[in-house]
Order: sequence, then structure tokens, then C-alpha cells
Amino acid sequence: MKICFATHNADKAREVQEMLPANIEILDLKSLGFHEEIEENGTTIRENALIKAKAVFDKLNIPCFADDTGLEVFSLNGEPGVFSARYAGSQKDPEANMARLLGNLEGKTDRTAQFKTVIAYIGNDGTEHVFEGIATGHILEKKRGQQGFGYDPVFQPTGFGQSFAEMSTQEKNRISHRAKAFEKLVSYLKSHSQ
Ligand code: IMP
Repeated sequence: MKICFATHNADKAREVQEMLPANIEILDLKSLGFHEEIEENGTTIRENALIKAKAVFDKLNIPCFADDTGLEVFSLNGEPGVFSARYAGSQKDPEANMARLLGNLEGKTDRTAQFKTVIAYIGNDGTEHVFEGIATGHILEKKRGQQGFGYDPVFQPTGFGQSFAEMSTQEKNRISHRAKAFEKLVSYLKSHSQ
């Protein structure tokens, strides 16, 4: 069974492949000759994941999935959410994004937040399935740590004394939003590929 992961990142595709049995083959967009940019113009994380998965399924006609992630801060009405990558502008600069976030949280007592990953999977017959992974936590007053990417230095997951950026990749992957969503996808694919 061949499944497309709607990503241009071959490393991401390899990671998912390693979680799956050999009868399921994960192919990234490049290896399928899909070079177009897909416009992520949805208003929610879920919508964007579905837009990407549908665009690829419509063109390639094989089962396919796409992921989308955002950071939701409760006292900011869920911001930056779907705008996480470009919160401080189209240059998608993580430092500027974190600076904007910390600025917007000044004076707020509620700093609770969550990372949300949504994976949209479209099966052979065109049916849509959505898998969600959430990591709850709070936004720190200041950046801490050098690992990871994006908002990791300002996010401390619930039950831990370290920010995501102070954890090793392995530690973060055990509890992350992305890992949780992919575990759900993998268990679905395993039970539907016989
Ligand atoms: P994407 O959908 O995986 O491209 O994620 C969109 C944006 O959310 C990224 O550009 C980052 O700013 C942020 N983001 C996603 N996942 C993480 C994470 O695990 N840690 C920190 N920031 C993240």
C-alpha cells in the first residue's frame, strides 16, 4: 500500500515510515513529482490540514495525509493558532514570532497554552479522517533553552520543569502534540492496511 505524505520534507516522511510496517510505503511529494506550493488559506489548523491533503489527493489519486500545527494561547483567544508560522509577518521568523507573543502576553495572568497538531488523511475511496494531538502547557516569561524550533523556548509542557527547548528531541517526541497525532494515524493505518 502506497501512501503520500503531503510534505516537501523527506525527513518528516522517513520518520513516519519508521513507525510503520514494510507493507505501507510512505512517499513524499518530491518523490511523486508534485512540486506545486499548496496555498494554506484555511481559517483553522484543521482546515489547512484538509486543504493540503485534498489538493494532493485530487491530483495524485492515492491515499494521502497532511499535517498542520499551531500554538493556541487561551488569553489571546487562541492566537497565534493558524498564523503560528507567520505571527510576526511573512518572513516567518521564530524570534520575531516569540517576541510578538511575549509582548501580547504582558500583563496577562493566564499564560496557559497548547500546541495542536491535526493530521488529515484521505483514504482510497476519498473518505476523510482527522487525527489530533495536543500538548498542554504555558508560555514562559522569557525564552529558555537552545533545542527544538519555533516557539519551543517559550513553551513549558504541563508536568515538566523544562521548556520544550531545554528537552532533548527524544524527550520532546515522547510527549509532543505531533507525536500524539502521528501515533493515532499510525495505529489507524496499521489496522486498515490488511
Ligand atoms: P507546521 O504546520 O508544522 O509547519 O507548524 C506551523 C508553525 O507552528 C511553525 O512554523 C512553528 O512556528 C510552530 N510550531 C509547530 N510545531 C512546533 C513545535 O513542536 N514547537 C514549536 N513551534 C512549533
